[in-house]
Amino acid sequence: MIEPGSTIGILGGGQLGRMLALAAASMGYRVHVLAPEAELPAGDVAAEVTRADYTDRAALDRFAASIDVATFEFENIDTAAIRHLATRVPVFPSADSLEVAQDRLAEKRFVEALGGRPAAYHPVDSRADLDVAIAALGLPAVLKTRRMGYDGKGQARLHSAGDADAAWAALGGQPAILEAWVDFSHEFSVLLARGQDGDIASWPVPHNSHEGGILATSRVPAPPEIMALVPDAVALARRVAEALDHVGVLTLEFFATPDGPRFNEMAPRVHNSGHWTIEGTRASQFENHIRAVCGLPLGSTALTAPEVLMRNLLGEDVHDWAKLLADGRAHLHLYGKSEVKPGRKMGHVTFL
Ligand SMILES: Nc1ncnc2c1ncn2[C@@H]1O[C@H](COP(=O)(O)OP(=O)(O)O)[C@@H](O)[C@H]1O
Ligand SMILES: [Mg+2]
Repeated sequence: MIEPGSTIGILGGGQLGRMLALAAASMGYRVHVLAPEAELPAGDVAAEVTRADYTDRAALDRFAASIDVATFEFENIDTAAIRHLATRVPVFPSADSLEVAQDRLAEKRFVEALGGRPAAYHPVDSRADLDVAIAALGLPAVLKTRRMGYDGKGQARLHSAGDADAAWAALGGQPAILEAWVDFSHEFSVLLARGQDGDIASWPVPHNSHEGGILATSRVPAPPEIMALVPDAVALARRVAEALDHVGVLTLEFFATPDGPRFNEMAPRVHNSGHWTIEGTRASQFENHIRAVCGLPLGSTALTAPEVLMRNLLGEDVHDWAKLLADGRAHLHLYGKSEVKPGRKMGHVTFL
């Protein structure tokens, strides 16, 4: 057990790291953030910050010497760096969890082998493959890079065969997968935390709405169309967590369809669709992630209010903060980012 007073290392310095650091601090831990960017939302609330590339072995070794346990908030870290760090200090979740989730093809195959059902997909490694994939899956479809995609980036939608050249060019010829378009009624996510003892706690399932590929809102409770699919989806998420011997928060995104839950993607970390748990449940995703990483028992995921709504503050939305605070039910979270860009996650607001 990593006791309060110890230092937790966090790889990655964005808003997820910031909220992890706040949860850690409130339980008496020190946090050391390692990330390359000049501006670090997590660094502002951490005891110690190292600005270094994740591949900088000397920096990783110094980092390891200053911490008792490590975790990550960012998915696109070279797993070799995580494996190296793990030779020095315990790291949760493991590089295995990260490795599967970094590659859309690996992640779909992994989840399928455990009984999950993604949309029909086809690997695409060349322009010629794309024609084969279109013939196999039909259109509409979406072409996604296997790696590094987030917030709808690294994706191109295809409505007709004439879109193929532009889609292939838009992704810059990177290894990709073509996915059949899913005619879903709703989107939802399963968030669970798994402790070092194998105990699993999952949160009530939020209904997620996206705009332009970016999460806009998460609402709890979810409507009946989602609730009917929750037992299947949660059972799958538990199998994934157990198969990976995952420690920490794990998130699986799903499409709700009339023939059951369709797996979309997974993240071996805290997730935007779980931000509402900060005020909306007794133990938030951030608190339970820290508890799991430190080998502590998990906290209760029970709701604190009958209805919870989280809305992301994207780009210029951040200027609404004063207006939002006029509503006494609003809990405002701003991430301390200085540059406002369209679609950039600047903060969120949760209404109980
Ligand atoms: N196959 C699909 N069918 C329908 N909508 C999709 C499909 N793939 C992605 N989307 C939409 O785009 C959003 C972002 O795609 P996702 O694969 O989750 O990538 P990201 O890593 O950017 O979150 C999804 O939440 C969904 O709204
Ligand atoms: Mg997604």
